[in-house]
Order: sequence, then C-alpha cells, then structure tokens
Amino acid sequence: MNQKQLVGIEAASYVSDGMIVGLGTGSTAFFMIEELGRRVREEHLHITGVTTSLQSKVQAQKLNIPLKSIDDVPYVDLTIDGADEISADHHGIKGGGAALLYEKIVATYSKEVIWIADESKLVEKLGKFPLPIEVIPYGSKQLLHFFAQKKMAPTLRQRQDGEILLTDSGHYIIDLHLGQIDDPKAFGHWLSQLTGVVEHGIFSDFVTKTIIAKGHHIITTDV
Ligand code: A5P
Repeated sequence: MNQKQLVGIEAASYVSDGMIVGLGTGSTAFFMIEELGRRVREEHLHITGVTTSLQSKVQAQKLNIPLKSIDDVPYVDLTIDGADEISADHHGIKGGGAALLYEKIVATYSKEVIWIADESKLVEKLGKFPLPIEVIPYGSKQLLHFFAQKKMAPTLRQRQDGEILLTDSGHYIIDLHLGQIDDPKAFGHWLSQLTGVVEHGIFSDFVTKTIIAKGHHIITTDV
C-alpha cells in the first residue's frame, strides 16, 4: 500500500453514519473516496457527499455515493482533502489540481477539515510549490503583467495539449513562483483584494486535523 492510500483509508475511518462529507480532489483524496465507496457498498454506510470538483464527482457517482450540492446542505460535517504544501504552523497551499475554489468553498462551510498527505508535502514555510491563483479570463494578461512586475514569476497554467487550462467554473489559473511566503494570511488578504482574482490557494484557519504518512507510519495531529 502506498502512502497516499494509507492516509486516504485512515481518513475515511473518521466518517460515520449520517454524515455530510466534503470529498476533496487529487491523487490522495482519490483513495479516501474509493474507501468511502467501499464502506457504502460493503458496510452500508449512509453518507451524503459534497464534491469539490468534476473529477471527484465522477468518481463518487461511479461508487454510488449519494451526492448533494453545497447549496443543498445546511453545512458539511467533515471534509477530507489533500494539500500541495502544509507548513509547520498549519497553513496550506492547495490548487495543484486546479480545484482550489470549490475546495475552499466546501471547507468554509465544514465543521471539521482533515488534510491527508505524504510527508513530502510538509514544509517549514509555504512557497516552494507554485501558488495557484484562480482568475477571471478577462483582464488575466494584465494580472500576469502586474505579478511579473512584482517579481512573482507568474505563469498561466496550460493543459498538456498546450491550451489554456479552464477550471470547473471556467476561470484561468495563474501560478506564482514565490520561493517562500513569510506571512501567508497577510499575503492571502492582499491577493483577495486584487481585481480579477477569484480565489487564491492559501488555506489558513481551515484544517482541524492532519493525517500524514511518514515511512509506513501514520502521524495524526489535531490542530
Ligand atoms: C486540487 O486542486 C488540490 O488542492 C489537491 O488537493 C492538491 O493538489 C493535492 O493533490 P495530490 O493529493 O494529488 O497531491
């Protein structure tokens, strides 16, 4: 069993009957969703899933996990999601898979948020991983120019075939190559007030538990 599978399966054990569960996105969340599908099938677990991307939605539908939109539930009991980087003080970068907007919306209305990751995602400070910014296509070249002037080395994310990548809500992603983010909260606030920015990939004050694979072990930390 690989590390992503290990933490995915462990995190799924925190889900109990009747819960409304936020289903994250990415290669780690994939294993958590598979395990929930197994539990629904074999243990007759009754849950309602709220997906954070088309990718997770398609997977959950194949597994017959009942789904609702975030707008059709009063709140989410628990969201389980991956992360691209987790700092020592529990800020995170998300959006490597371009799902940051829905992920942040679902996390915002969740009582508990578990991040699952292998140890490669742990960092002292955020910023080595390019920071995804979801932007409105109109004016995005101006934003690219603006970030370049600020020496943030922006790149417009493309698909493998070279076309501009569109998020599930039809936006573009600009990745900022920052190296280090000293004050993630303040930087996030600065990004949020820029015209044309829909959302950024800094997640502060969301996570309530981390489940990290180190070697063959699982380290669970309450935040
Ligand atoms: C999706 O946009 C992301 O936020 C993912 O949760 C994050 O990129 C982690 O993905 P992996 O589990 O594939 O590394």
